[in-house]
Amino acid sequence: MIRKFSYSPKISTGAVVKNLPASDLPLPYFELKDGVFSYRMSDSACVYGLGEAIRGINKRGWIYESWCSDDPFHSEEKRSLYGAHNFLLIDGDDRFGVFFDYPTRLTFDIGYTDPAVLTVTPAELALDLYIIDGDSLKDIVREFRALIGKSYIPPLFAFGYGQSRWGYITEEDIAAVVDKHEAAGIPLDMIYLDIDYLDSFKDFTVNRERYPDFEGFVSRMRARGYHLIPIIDAAVKREEGYSVYDEGHEKGYFCKDENGEDFVVGVWPGMSCLPDFLNPEASKWFGDKYKALTDAGIDGFWNDMNEPALFYSEKALDSAFEKIKAFEGKTLDALSYFGARDVFTRLSNAQDDYDSFYHNAPEGRFRHSNVHNLYGYKMTESAANSLKALRPDEPTLLFSRASYIGAHRSGGIWTGDNHSWWSHILQSLQQMPGLNMCGFLYTGSDIGGFNGNCTRDLLIRWLSFAVFTPLMRNHAALGTRSQDATAFGDTEVFRRIIELRYRLIPYLYDQFLKAAENDEMYFRPLSFDYENDPAARTIDDQLMVGDRLMIAPVYKQNAAGRNVYLPEQMNLIRMSGGEITAEPIEQGWHFISVPLSDVVFFSIGKLPLAEPAKNTAELDFDHLTYIGS
Ligand code: GLC
Repeated sequence: MIRKFSYSPKISTGAVVKNLPASDLPLPYFELKDGVFSYRMSDSACVYGLGEAIRGINKRGWIYESWCSDDPFHSEEKRSLYGAHNFLLIDGDDRFGVFFDYPTRLTFDIGYTDPAVLTVTPAELALDLYIIDGDSLKDIVREFRALIGKSYIPPLFAFGYGQSRWGYITEEDIAAVVDKHEAAGIPLDMIYLDIDYLDSFKDFTVNRERYPDFEGFVSRMRARGYHLIPIIDAAVKREEGYSVYDEGHEKGYFCKDENGEDFVVGVWPGMSCLPDFLNPEASKWFGDKYKALTDAGIDGFWNDMNEPALFYSEKALDSAFEKIKAFEGKTLDALSYFGARDVFTRLSNAQDDYDSFYHNAPEGRFRHSNVHNLYGYKMTESAANSLKALRPDEPTLLFSRASYIGAHRSGGIWTGDNHSWWSHILQSLQQMPGLNMCGFLYTGSDIGGFNGNCTRDLLIRWLSFAVFTPLMRNHAALGTRSQDATAFGDTEVFRRIIELRYRLIPYLYDQFLKAAENDEMYFRPLSFDYENDPAARTIDDQLMVGDRLMIAPVYKQNAAGRNVYLPEQMNLIRMSGGEITAEPIEQGWHFISVPLSDVVFFSIGKLPLAEPAKNTAELDFDHLTYIGS
């Protein structure tokens, strides 16, 4: 059962697809006082949800903020990342879901200030709130998901393995990556094109020195079985004579400053303008630009920098240069030195800038900061709408960095700029169920870590976990050590792990489709399946994957294995040197040895396996063998 409570929202976010009448009964569970919602949690209550938010699967004990943020340092003290996913599921003496449909800053204090109290504080009381009751945790999620509409389903090839790196400059670089994987017999479906393929980082262009015959290159790669997946950034370079800028400027499709001039920000292309994705005409105009690439044979995209990320605004940069003059020629003490340094470091993603530009939405003019969390969502929707028209016969691969609930209908998301840290394997695992609750099923993290330097063992363990994430992409930042599956000399172990992914695709893709069609979660905490098992409630480093599989990845340096909790008897499935074996293992705790050469996971009943394949197109879904009993 879903009840809606309405507190004069100012804009329709589009997150919800069912038009429910607002209830005039008292709000259950929460007390609303001075614009703050509070709820007293029972001692044993677990709090799930919040999508991409970091820390444990149980979110209790920390404070979170919904504010889509370009933050390349996902440390434990962070309150926001790229997504704003305002759904919580409380499992204590009361059991209910709650969704705050609110487009801007919202704070969730989940026992941070007072361990027993959950408070939710919107910047202003102008929102819709939904309370969802159900018989089980899974039921509540199903009800919520029916409220927000069906999740995006990618094409089958998007379940293949993808290799990505910022810093593959030319088509020769891309071809060399493909050649290396082919030579090592490593299955591969996708190669990603980061901003290096663009002409001066301008959206919908191609650098013709680096790709003299882009269309030919795309089709030669397709003929060899590979999909090229280019990046599209939100901001458009301000450059007269560049048609995308000229059109956007003339038609008034960019966000405006208080004087009605295009608001100018610095991102990768330098001074740029922000398409107004809240304006339906501007949104259609930008989405239709993807045609430049679909005409060249492109069938997948990743949308980036759409929080929107602002390195600086033109105005703030001008004033920073003014301010810094005051320090010139002075002998600086420590404090004034830091003051001088901060003149520039504080420019990025500054609140002042988010406060100083405007959108033209159907409901009227909005200050950006009042609708901030919708920007990336609306960019993804813009692309998805146009891509459906441009490529009506097949789904297009699409995922984004920033998001809000609602974007899950248009595409997937990846979890942004993580690090090559062991703790980030676990973090990625812990992000998955929250994302699934909020409808984001096509998700994954940058395998091997984006920032920092990866090692052979870290990549092996990360891949062994990512075998199960719908988006399986190895991606790294410019200047970091190579971390593709051929980078560490011996390729055999990497080939085996990626091969295992392909062998499991019949199960994984089927379970993904089932989750999307039935509004279910593909990844679930154990407590969702074993509600009456107190031990299952405490597990936050294992996940259920689909109906019949459980994973318990190794995420510690030099670990020889790990402790695993089995909520019931299962098959222990071990891939070792390409051999896949199954043995029954009893309910309870076990230390499972997992050498680097092995991948271990667990199944309930038999599991279908395909023969190894070079790519998804060559997977034979008709000849499956079954493992386990
Ligand atoms: C952002 C993206 C990252 C990409 C980089 C360059 O940091 O999150 O994935 O590689 O920009 O485009």
